[in-house]
Amino acid sequence: MKSKILNILRSSDTYVSGEEISKLLGISRAAIWKHINQLKKEGYQIDSLTKNGYKLISSPDILSFDEISPFLKTKFIGHDILYYESIDSTNTFAKSISQNCKDGLVIIAEEQTKGRGRLGRTWVSPKRKGIWMSIILHPNLPPSEAHKLTIITASSIYNTLCKFNVDIKIKWPNDILINGKKICGILTEMNAELNHINSLVIGIGINVNTEVEDFNEELTKIATSLRIETGKFIDRKKLTAEILNNFEDFYIDYLSTKDIRPYLEIVRKNSALINKYVEIIKPNEKYIAKVVDIDDDGQLVIDNDGKIEKLLSGEVSL
Ligand code: BTN
Repeated sequence: MKSKILNILRSSDTYVSGEEISKLLGISRAAIWKHINQLKKEGYQIDSLTKNGYKLISSPDILSFDEISPFLKTKFIGHDILYYESIDSTNTFAKSISQNCKDGLVIIAEEQTKGRGRLGRTWVSPKRKGIWMSIILHPNLPPSEAHKLTIITASSIYNTLCKFNVDIKIKWPNDILINGKKICGILTEMNAELNHINSLVIGIGINVNTEVEDFNEELTKIATSLRIETGKFIDRKKLTAEILNNFEDFYIDYLSTKDIRPYLEIVRKNSALINKYVEIIKPNEKYIAKVVDIDDDGQLVIDNDGKIEKLLSGEVSL
């Protein structure tokens, strides 16, 4: 009901009377007043005049379904959003419900107290500064194809961020960099049988309006945000919807064609690694090698002192 009231207020430039809302929604004026108060508590600025009714003045900078949905053009992803002010980790929560929920459910939090990165790292997720979300999917694919969905995610985020006119690169397998520093990480986790993915959680963390003070000294050297790089405050709701729109386009296309090449092409063309000497970090060894290519399976092709090797996943440092 609260969302319906919000939609009515949004669709009008002037005051909407309590009587009109009451007629449209079939609820009492007292009930409307209660919902309006709740909206105000959530940060909506609503002007109320005894004679004229209610007028929406401004909406809060939050990533709730009500704020994102006006920009969503998806067929199913994000049609349901579970929104939290604070959570330990959207991926941890998504994994716990992923088996029994709708395809395309999105978990979004304003803050994560135990945000997780790859390889057991911490993901710093300060309140209302970024996009911290997890998309739950039930693709009809074998587990061996899961890494391709990270490629689809990275390429769709790359395409979305291109509009900011900054130097964006994709660092295989799951990072997006601006001017050489990380602004986005992807954490793909799955629950699978030998031949079938039961559920997949794609965790996306984007430093959007994060400021230098939000990073510790160590992170300042390697991480950045859209705000730091563009000097502008970014509309997180629109950006969240655009990422979901682009991701779904790529995802649906990939599921129908099973052809990853168009997305790999985006990763290759805008790779932070190809033709660079990098440090390959394996559990028991580290060595320098030259990145030659990303092959059609999404594996990183490296030249290790004249010997060509392929990596399906792993850690590479520039
Ligand atoms: C990485 O670069 O190592 C991956 C970082 C992924 C961070 C996102 S934020 C939303 C989701 N929830 C988590 O705990 N992690 C992912």
